[in-house]
Amino acid sequence: MMQNGDDIVVDPSLNNSVIGIIDSGVGGLTVAKEVMRQLPRETIYYFGDTLRCPYGPRSPEEVRQYTFEMIHFLEQFPLKALLIACNTATAVALEQVQSVLSIPVLGVIKPGARAAIKATREGKIGVIGTQGTIRSQAYKIALEELHPSISVHSLACPTLVPLVENGNRSSPEAYRVVAEALRPFQNKQMDTLILGCTHYPLLADLIHQVMGAHVRIISSAEETASELSTILHHSGLLAQKKKFHRFFATGSAELFAKIASDWLGQKIYAEKVELSSYTLYRKKFFAG
Ligand code: DGL
Repeated sequence: MMQNGDDIVVDPSLNNSVIGIIDSGVGGLTVAKEVMRQLPRETIYYFGDTLRCPYGPRSPEEVRQYTFEMIHFLEQFPLKALLIACNTATAVALEQVQSVLSIPVLGVIKPGARAAIKATREGKIGVIGTQGTIRSQAYKIALEELHPSISVHSLACPTLVPLVENGNRSSPEAYRVVAEALRPFQNKQMDTLILGCTHYPLLADLIHQVMGAHVRIISSAEETASELSTILHHSGLLAQKKKFHRFFATGSAELFAKIASDWLGQKIYAEKVELSSYTLYRKKFFAG
């Protein structure tokens, strides 16, 4: 797709290209599921860097580097759009990725902020996320940009991602861990809680039980998929025919396939990727 002022020139061969979705692990499947629901003709190539998950405690430089490594891997396929379905990577890398790719690139933070503004009744919003996302203040900035008098409480919950990545989200231990992580929010006034990490919707039932029925739980998946749908529609890039989705993981393909099949409600086959050797190969032959 070439953009020239307001004119968008669409390469028709892109219609049946694929949508790339990346995350540090299985969390981006929450966004993938919503894309499959809203855009059932589209084909997704999903990359989960499960071997190096979590990204939350890592430095912004490291998260940016890993994000580009995932993208370089997916660039061997014909991509028509890319979703950074990871809040931590969106917070530190979205603008840079947008500046170098010539396809639409979407993050999950602005859509999440928009969904929360739509849902809140009293303008009192809580945000939970990884240390990296909370440290970046990206949600607070995005919410205040939309609504100047919003009140925002933020909390990093580093114990939640491992529960999901280890496939323990319905274990008896999981409720105790979620309750403990959310304890600092128990006496805070809020009517809406943003799940500012794409892994957290997999724990939504537990989070709901802990926070109580008066708090609306918001994930960015729905709004992100609907933004993607609008962009594909307006650029004439909607697919006519679905091909097979593909799932790549840097860690155990079996564990990824088990979590993905369970969450997506269909049998998923995952392919294991050794990103470091692929990146070295690319550096050697493409100097990129
Ligand atoms: N799912 C990711 C996010 O949305 C990252 C979790 C992690 O790797 O720490 O932030």
